[in-house]
Amino acid sequence: MPALVRLSMSLDQSLNDRIDRMMREGRYASRSELFRELVRRRAVEAEWDGNREALGTITLVYDHDNRTLSRKLTRAQHRHHGNVLAATHVHLDRHLCAEMIMVRGKARQIRELADELGHQKGVLHSALSMSSTGKALRAAGGDAHGHGHAHPHGPRGRKGAHAHP
Ligand code: NI
Repeated sequence: MPALVRLSMSLDQSLNDRIDRMMREGRYASRSELFRELVRRRAVEAEWDGNREALGTITLVYDHDNRTLSRKLTRAQHRHHGNVLAATHVHLDRHLCAEMIMVRGKARQIRELADELGHQKGVLHSALSMSSTGKALRAAGGDAHGHGHAHPHGPRGRKGAHAHP
């Protein structure tokens, strides 16, 4: 258990009111938990801002009837094979597909890949979820499983169902 530090701080009344509202909404068990999450979130943002090694997921929704597009998306992933950890394809309905691509690498490379994929003609929606390899989270006092649920450990390694960077 790391040592705990108690701190007091000064805040504008309006910010404090906002925190009270967030507490009432029940998203956080305590103010401490809220601040811990904010600090970790900021630490991950700093990794991305500083073009550090990062982890992310690119989600694409596109029309499967567009054969050229499917090929282009696959080709782009092959070109960036060093960044692509795994990809899952989901058939949403008769025509629409979703692809979730787990990526790891320098933040800028991941952003560029997300842009390249998301800007292909025929992609209806794309989103980049920006997460962390865990280095910033350790430095920010979080353990690797600080996200509030227990789970069994999958096989180690890049292709494992459950990645532990
Ligand atoms: Ni499909």
